[in-house]
Amino acid sequence: MSTSDTPAVIGGAHASAAEGATPLLALRAITKTFGPVRALTAVDLEVPPGQVTALVGDNGAGKSSLIKTVSGLWPPDGGDILWQGEPVHLHGPKDAEALGITTIYQDLALCDNLDIVQNMFLGHEKLRRRLLDEATMEIAARGTLEDLSVTTVRSIRQPVASLSGGQRQSVAVAKAVMSQAQLVIMDEPTAALGVAQTTMVLELIKRLSSRGVAVLLISHNLNDVFEVADRIAVLYLGQMAVNGPAADFDRQSVVEYMTTGAAEPAGAPPRGPNPVPSAS
Ligand SMILES: Nc1ncnc2c1ncn2[C@@H]1O[C@H](COP(=O)(O)OP(=O)(O)OP(=O)(O)O)[C@@H](O)[C@H]1O
Ligand SMILES: [Mg+2]
Repeated sequence: MSTSDTPAVIGGAHASAAEGATPLLALRAITKTFGPVRALTAVDLEVPPGQVTALVGDNGAGKSSLIKTVSGLWPPDGGDILWQGEPVHLHGPKDAEALGITTIYQDLALCDNLDIVQNMFLGHEKLRRRLLDEATMEIAARGTLEDLSVTTVRSIRQPVASLSGGQRQSVAVAKAVMSQAQLVIMDEPTAALGVAQTTMVLELIKRLSSRGVAVLLISHNLNDVFEVADRIAVLYLGQMAVNGPAADFDRQSVVEYMTTGAAEPAGAPPRGPNPVPSAS
């Protein structure tokens, strides 16, 4: 019942992320240590374009460490990061952003005292004759929110402090879309949300992927994972225990991988709708 050195890849022999296509992001043997603590050990992960990849794992499994590495916050101690097949070295978040990687952290990094338009353009303000071009920014902000079918916001000139949790997530996602992100990483986006707001954020994630944007979703919530994920990757004690198409998992197997790093042999991996009656 322990993890093997090589992660299980289910869904057929090396059914890699998108059968033959170059992954948008590929991690090869990423290692990260903090003194005596090994947060990540030789982690491999492939994120295909335009799909939702769920990254799950118990507390302390290494999820945040992994996304901080991909976001350029922390250099890995070993291993390679490949973007569209090419090795890249990220020396800071700006490098990741320049590639098209946007990370939405749990605290969202929005400024409460600024309105929606100001938040969406923070650091990338449009200027006209050296003055802020408010009209152009408003039109772009409104257009992006409409494109994403975000309809519950009353005014784009509302301070972000006055928005609900789901609306704040929507603004953060719209900001990522406006920055032409190709990969949006979301750390527990629904953790603090109610049912309706969670639905709204999950819809937004589906819309992002239908527009060709890849999403790497960190979540503890298996309802969310099974609702939106095309692929599931499970970290266990800093190692990639398994990763494969979501259809090859059921809740029970994901929970087993999360808690033990292994699951029943995938001789006949469960397919399609969850066949495990007790796993509601
Ligand atoms: N800055 C740090 N300094 C020292 N150790 C750290 C640091 N950040 C993370 N770790 C350690 O690395 C391991 C992985 O932590 P990480 O935060 O990546 O887990 P996680 O999967 O995001 O957990 P959670 O679900 O609780 O957010 C843990 O053992 C943690 O104690
Ligand atoms: Mg974390």
